[in-house]
Amino acid sequence: MEFLTFLQILGGLVVAKFLYNQWKIFSLYYYARDFDFKSVAEDGYALITGGAEGIGRQCALYFAKRGINLILVDFNEKKLNETAKEIKENYSISLITKVMDLTTLHEPEVYASFEKEMLKQKISILFNNAGMSEEKKAFWNYAGSTPSKVTKIMTLNAEVPVLMTRMVLPGMLERKKGVLMHMGSSAGLTALDANPIYAGTKSHVINFSRSIEQLYPTSKTGIIHHVFYPAFIRTSLTTFLTKGIKKKGYENTMERLKDIVFPKVETWFASAIKTVGTGKNESGGSWFFEQFVNYMVMHFDSRGLKMLTDLSE
Ligand SMILES: NC(=O)c1ccc[n+]([C@@H]2O[C@H](COP(=O)([O-])OP(=O)(O)OC[C@H]3O[C@@H](n4cnc5c(N)ncnc54)[C@H](OP(=O)(O)O)[C@@H]3O)[C@@H](O)[C@H]2O)c1
Repeated sequence: MEFLTFLQILGGLVVAKFLYNQWKIFSLYYYARDFDFKSVAEDGYALITGGAEGIGRQCALYFAKRGINLILVDFNEKKLNETAKEIKENYSISLITKVMDLTTLHEPEVYASFEKEMLKQKISILFNNAGMSEEKKAFWNYAGSTPSKVTKIMTLNAEVPVLMTRMVLPGMLERKKGVLMHMGSSAGLTALDANPIYAGTKSHVINFSRSIEQLYPTSKTGIIHHVFYPAFIRTSLTTFLTKGIKKKGYENTMERLKDIVFPKVETWFASAIKTVGTGKNESGGSWFFEQFVNYMVMHFDSRGLKMLTDLSE
């Protein structure tokens, strides 16, 4: 074969692969229909950690609208009460709220009593959502972190999802249905020097979900698995970025791009939830993040993040 022909075939294959990947992403976001969560939940509950605010709150509203009973666990009592009030005023579902610091589940006695209390209900859906990162002032300074802060992030982001999954899984296996959703992050897909504890724990969440899915595949157990790994979404977790981009010169650009690059939590969630139950057990949650994630895994270094955080100095 001539060298030129070889190059043409190679080029054709690369383009075909690129187009195929684009088609997969396009069909995931533009053809996906809402998964029938209610038929899985039946008269049971969806348990959402960190359900008072941000992504957890969006998920609570989404399920409530579909008539799914809810258990919301969060340590922000004020915001939890506000979310509960909004749900009660608008939807007729059974709603249980629990104010607690989820990191205390680390203690065997706390876990035992929590499990006893929770398993009085049939938990059909679990969303392991609560999570935290190193604060902006601690970025690029792992050596300066305190052991208590390290433990808190590790426990909330890594241990709690594992414990919660362990708690609900036997019931789901028995009933041969259930949904297990986890909040990973694009930070868990590649090395990230700014906040290595967050990045490390999010890698754990992603690989934990993939491994549990392999052990209990939908085809054999009826359980739907999903892990999300988005980049930045506008919630209280990312206010340090929002403040930064408001600075003169960037706000107009960001305003135009905001629903794509840095989406509102409502926009992102509405897109992300459609990727659950599609047969693809993981997603960035939006078309842009899906592209970003592909790019990030290969090329990301934290200069971009540094630039964004510097804006908010
Ligand atoms: N926002 C993003 O850009 C982004 C991107 C990728 C992944 N994620 C992941 O998505 C998940 C949700 O993030 P979010 O942006 O929605 O955050 P958020 O707006 O801060 O909401 C998280 C909720 O969890 C609560 N919470 C935090 N620590 C807790 C604890 N120890 N015990 C009980 N509740 C606790 C928070 O309470 P307080 O308000 O009192 O802290 C808050 O109500 C996290 O796992 C995060 O890592 C977020």
